[in-house]
Amino acid sequence: MLRVEGICKTFDRFQALGGADLHVGAGKIVAVIGPNGAGKSTMFKVITGHLKPDAGRILFLGEPISSLSPHEVCRKGISMAFQIVNIFPRMSVFENVQAAVLSHRGQASNIFSSAAKMAVRETMEILESVRLEKRAASIAGTLSYGDQKVLEIAIALSTEPKLLILDEPTAGMSSEEAAVCTGLIRKLTAEHGLTVLFCEHNIELVLSLSDEIMVLQAGRTLIQDSPEAVQQSPAVREAYLGGAA
Ligand SMILES: Nc1ncnc2c1ncn2[C@@H]1O[C@H](COP(=O)(O)OP(=O)(O)OP(=O)(O)O)[C@@H](O)[C@H]1O
Ligand SMILES: [Mg+2]
Repeated sequence: MLRVEGICKTFDRFQALGGADLHVGAGKIVAVIGPNGAGKSTMFKVITGHLKPDAGRILFLGEPISSLSPHEVCRKGISMAFQIVNIFPRMSVFENVQAAVLSHRGQASNIFSSAAKMAVRETMEILESVRLEKRAASIAGTLSYGDQKVLEIAIALSTEPKLLILDEPTAGMSSEEAAVCTGLIRKLTAEHGLTVLFCEHNIELVLSLSDEIMVLQAGRTLIQDSPEAVQQSPAVREAYLGGAA
């Protein structure tokens, strides 16, 4: 579904990515791991068109996408939830998702229908898929941190993506919240056919959730393989897990 080849990205003179490769098969859950500053968020921003790569190719469903804007990448079927929670805290949970659905459809300013009645069914379906339907009327800013991150996933789903990219989905969550979020990611792939690419510092969660793991080190791909093969790789143990795994 997604193929990233030799991506490079330099900020001023600092090279954040120096030849990152990644492939994501349809229906898979693929994790990117690597220490702070390895370039994980930068790679996701390059894939989604928020940053332009200096070199390399990105193919999505066989088509090059590296020259597209974030909006165009989204239209092709890639949606991302960012590392920092990014919701409208004073709007209800329902309104947050509804606004995203309407904006994706280009209907935000349709003067012929009352906005409140638009996309109600689609919005509720998305909230049900992430199990937030009972919180639909709550003000988003009053949700627990874990539920706010789940709401952000719901907003990302409103553009009907084929590939969902999650930048540290469980960062800052309690272990109970992280377990709920992990279950949600599994459910979205199993029941909704979504493909998921995510990065995460919680290695146990990564090992239990992923079909494949890519290890990014100083902007380069060290390895991409099954969780078992990555765990056993001497290069990974030395470079990233410090021989402790
Ligand atoms: N806009 C920018 N301008 C300058 N340097 C940047 C910019 N964005 C990222 N960097 C640098 O690029 C490197 C990679 O950053 P990136 O955020 O991609 O790392 P990361 O792997 O996501 O780290 P973390 O695990 O801490 O989220 C870091 O050294 C960072 O300081
Ligand atoms: Mg990051």
